[in-house]
Amino acid sequence: MQSTKDILNQFTTKLHNSKTLSELEKLRLDYLGRNGKVNTLLKDIKSIKVDDRKNFGESINKIKDEIELAIGEKLVKLSSREDRDTSFDITRPGKEYPHGSLHLATLAIDEISKIFEKIGFIRMSYPEVEWEYFSFDSLNMPPDHPARDDFETFFIEAKPHNKYGKMVLTPHTSSGQPREMKRLGNPPIRMINIAKTYRPNWDASHTPMFHQFEGLCVDKKINITHLKGTISYFAKEFFGEGREIRLRPFHFQFTEPSFEVDVTCGVCNGKGYVPKVILANEVRPESRSWTSSPRLSYGEAGQDDERIKCKLCKSGWLELGGSGMVHPSVLKAGGIDPDEYTGWAFGFGVERVFMMKEGLNLDDLRVVYSGDIRFLEQF
Ligand code: DAH
Repeated sequence: MQSTKDILNQFTTKLHNSKTLSELEKLRLDYLGRNGKVNTLLKDIKSIKVDDRKNFGESINKIKDEIELAIGEKLVKLSSREDRDTSFDITRPGKEYPHGSLHLATLAIDEISKIFEKIGFIRMSYPEVEWEYFSFDSLNMPPDHPARDDFETFFIEAKPHNKYGKMVLTPHTSSGQPREMKRLGNPPIRMINIAKTYRPNWDASHTPMFHQFEGLCVDKKINITHLKGTISYFAKEFFGEGREIRLRPFHFQFTEPSFEVDVTCGVCNGKGYVPKVILANEVRPESRSWTSSPRLSYGEAGQDDERIKCKLCKSGWLELGGSGMVHPSVLKAGGIDPDEYTGWAFGFGVERVFMMKEGLNLDDLRVVYSGDIRFLEQF
């Protein structure tokens, strides 16, 4: 009985003096190891009178528990202290913390802003909650224009403005045109308006909220060549040096003449076809897991019978968005004299151009705003 007490006292002193994890481990082996003091004591049981063995055994188990508990507590204490200061091993691999990144729409917006800043365009964002007047009337869109239908625009249940009409969620960034003209008063104007836009659509290729960027340039003697030159500059900066653009005649209420802008497809290099061998299986390593059609390498096409239509564009061209020369009534609505000044404008979708650049062909565009980390992590 005496010896169990002695052992415990001795242990307590040694425990107190153990200052490091290795000292503590040594102490544990000294006492609880196979040949440690506790086991050695157990071996003495044979020399104890039969009647006393039960008590003896119990007291050994008791000190064993106590020692175990005390070592455990000290281990926790020392581990946290050593973690904090004493032994910082710089050669140990670091802990990898999960880190966030910018959303792909933000990445695209930053890049677009920078491209236009370089040629002197001022970045603006105009209200997401807008009046009908700026979204439609000032843009030469009559009251019965189909875009002004409930099916095309979100109307807000709010008191209408006595001059500007109903409140809407801005359906396009074009409302930034008259706003910027009014803000500046006088040309020259070089604006890039990047903002959220809203339309009541929810399907595989539409989300009710998306982003557009709107270019506007107004000055004396501005003509279509300036429009074409600027968009061509953007296409080369954003998509790559080899990309070309074309203007296709179209109709918009707020421009005259109006065009749709196309850019050469990055998969087939504007040819509309790719060599069959490559299309069959080959997927470039950087192709994304979420693409429905893998990114394809473009090689020089072989003979005619080895060609296959480009899956992404079918024709060699991809549609960027709308553009044109600002309609005289829009200039007038912005307080600018159309006899003295002319201007051009364009409006493209941010998500759209980003996906075109990445060669992404998503089965379902809604994944972009689903918050699914597995998708977002790839950008
Ligand atoms: N606002 C148009 C849309 O959302 C795009 C657009 C077309 C903008 C022609 C323009 C333009 O500035 O000139 O569909």
